[in-house]
Amino acid sequence: MRQAGRYMKSYQAICEKYPSFRERSENVDLVVEISLQPWQVFRPDGVILFSDILTPLSGMNIPFDIVKGKGPVIFDPLSTAADVEKVREFIPEESVPYVGEALTILRKEVNNEAAVLGFVGAPFTLASYVVEGGSSKHFTKIKRLAFSQPKILHALLQKFATSMAKYIRYQADKGAQAVQIFDSWATELSPVDFEEFSLPYLRLIVDSVKQTHPELPLILYASGSGGLLERLPLTGVDVISLDWTVDMAEGRRRLGPDVAVQGNVDPGVLFGSKEFITNRINDTVRKAGKGKHILNLGHGIIVGTPEENVAHFFEVAKGLRY
Ligand code: CP3
Repeated sequence: MRQAGRYMKSYQAICEKYPSFRERSENVDLVVEISLQPWQVFRPDGVILFSDILTPLSGMNIPFDIVKGKGPVIFDPLSTAADVEKVREFIPEESVPYVGEALTILRKEVNNEAAVLGFVGAPFTLASYVVEGGSSKHFTKIKRLAFSQPKILHALLQKFATSMAKYIRYQADKGAQAVQIFDSWATELSPVDFEEFSLPYLRLIVDSVKQTHPELPLILYASGSGGLLERLPLTGVDVISLDWTVDMAEGRRRLGPDVAVQGNVDPGVLFGSKEFITNRINDTVRKAGKGKHILNLGHGIIVGTPEENVAHFFEVAKGLRY
């Protein structure tokens, strides 16, 4: 989950000096510095690369920006077969060399005291941004495409799937020790549509990566995935990240014995008292039971969260004995 972000004063200070998100996330020195900010203060077990799921888009011939107060903006949203035709296969070493360099430096800096984590966007979630033109409420444009011209959308999803498989391999080769796939908007689909427009492409990515990197742990996160839980292990990922709207014990049962779980403390809990935070952590760990569990929040840390409460989360977490 997002570790940097606007709740840290040190990150806000960098944003003042470098107001462009693209610059902060595409300059090796800044990427390394920002990625290490939470590590230096909280010493988590995982250090996540500072980047965005949209970062590969410019290398795929899809110009974008992330605008303060507005979020992601795609300058020329895709809608036709000709638009999809123009999308280039992603070649990470040519388009995002700064990501590889930053991961390699992070591995050295972290010195095996924590795992360095990479991430990518899932095909459906990336497609929803490039078709909608940015964040969306009703996802009308991508649904119009899915339900009236599905072939066009499938062609786009296929390009994202092969490109993201390549990107995961690249991140692993440069130093990432686990990679999380964010399918943030897959849950906007009904299960039958998830089976057509998201699941096959997630499986394609996982199958392809496992052929060359069988040991690389792959984590899948989809926010609001309660209605899809039984289907998520079909992707073949090793870990499923749950948000807080699912009871951890029930989630574990519904996912079955073959996957590890991650999560799922409500990020809003970090606005509570220290005692409240401690209780929720203990509750989550107890409910996750004896199987493999990565203790985490159920989504990114919210802007305005007191840093001392984040520190408390880590203190409690590190004191736990599994
Ligand atoms: O800890 C980290 O720093 C990890 C880096 C990270 C970012 N985005 C940096 C970022 C990660 C893992 C992401 C993933 C991401 N980006 C997702 C998947 C996770 C999720 O939330 O479901 C999605 C959907 C995006 C797309 C995106 N990027 C949105 C919707 C926004 C706007 C959010 C906002 O509140 O404005 C971004 C911008 C963004 N990416 C920020 C950060 C720290 C905040 C803007 C900023 O710092 O300037």
